[in-house]
Amino acid sequence: MIYSRIVGSGSYLPPRVMDNNEFAQRLDTSDAWIRERTGIERRHIADESQASSDLALNAARKALDAAGIKAEDLDLIVVATSTPDYIFPSTACILQAKLGVKGCAAFDMQAVCSGFVYGLATADSFIRTGQHKKALVVGAEVFSRILDWNDRGTCVLFGDGAGAVVLSADARPGIHASRLHADGSHVQLLSVPGNVSRGKIVGSPFLQMNGQGVFRFAVRVLEESARETLAAAGMNLEDVDWLIPHQANVRILEATARKLGLPREKLVVTVDHHGNTSAASVPLALDEYLRAGKIRPGQRLLLQGVGGGFTWGSTLLTL
Ligand code: UT7
Repeated sequence: MIYSRIVGSGSYLPPRVMDNNEFAQRLDTSDAWIRERTGIERRHIADESQASSDLALNAARKALDAAGIKAEDLDLIVVATSTPDYIFPSTACILQAKLGVKGCAAFDMQAVCSGFVYGLATADSFIRTGQHKKALVVGAEVFSRILDWNDRGTCVLFGDGAGAVVLSADARPGIHASRLHADGSHVQLLSVPGNVSRGKIVGSPFLQMNGQGVFRFAVRVLEESARETLAAAGMNLEDVDWLIPHQANVRILEATARKLGLPREKLVVTVDHHGNTSAASVPLALDEYLRAGKIRPGQRLLLQGVGGGFTWGSTLLTL
């Protein structure tokens, strides 16, 4: 039996840090409101010169270093992003070129904030079939580029960043189980309903969201998805050392842990200093806790995504 294992992780945050007070100086909002309603204190914002592929490149290099693997050894690159460099080619192809390699399969995964979990599950499936042996899976976003900076209901929530893992074929799991879902009837809850056509922006290029609708949906499906994925692996909540849900709002994270009956100490929280980095949030959180020595090799992790589409899903793995 072939499984896939995470053998290295890396992440990158652009140097510019923006705290809540910067919003309070310009908009009818406050540090207190943002902290109380979201748990967010600050976020990183990419420089004008940085695209998603640049953030991805920094994270990927660190993940490859940690894995002790050269970019030439990769046979698959998956980049989860909703803020690609171009309409085409994919950010994964641009990243491949920036890594200085050619030939391996490379494609983007568009599942918004579930993108990394979708990408991990996809790469795992390719490895299990024997088609690929070493995959780079990245979540990279510059959400600051698709925000209306005058809309206090959305612009305070997001940040930029990238996280990456290297997955390698192995005789031991690794990834035990993944479950992915989508319900496209909820398009209106969270979207950037614009496009480029005939040389013009058609529709809105800015993120639109029904915050309370997203909140309720997220808490429900994160709980269901955790239980479903554990059941698929024949495990239960006591087998989980760390829950790493998509980092959108600390109240969503805590409500999910509470509904699952999972102790707060097992919940990974980085949204306070990253904001919501969409597809980058889960690998950023994983890498930060791993490098801090909080998450350790051999521990069992439940990774969860939920976001626009709506999409959601979980991956259960042993590190
Ligand atoms: O990856 C998924 C992406 N999205 C999310 O995860 C978002 C999920 N939803 C949320 O996190 C929360 O719903 C929000 C943080 C977006 C909003 O929190 P809430 O507790 O649901 O607030 P609300 O939307 O019910 O708004 C309460 C009040 C409103 O004023 P009124 O109508 O009561 O006078 C808003 O206009 O808060 C107001 N408000 C703000 N006030 C100060 C909304 N944004 C702000 C703000 N500062 N930034």
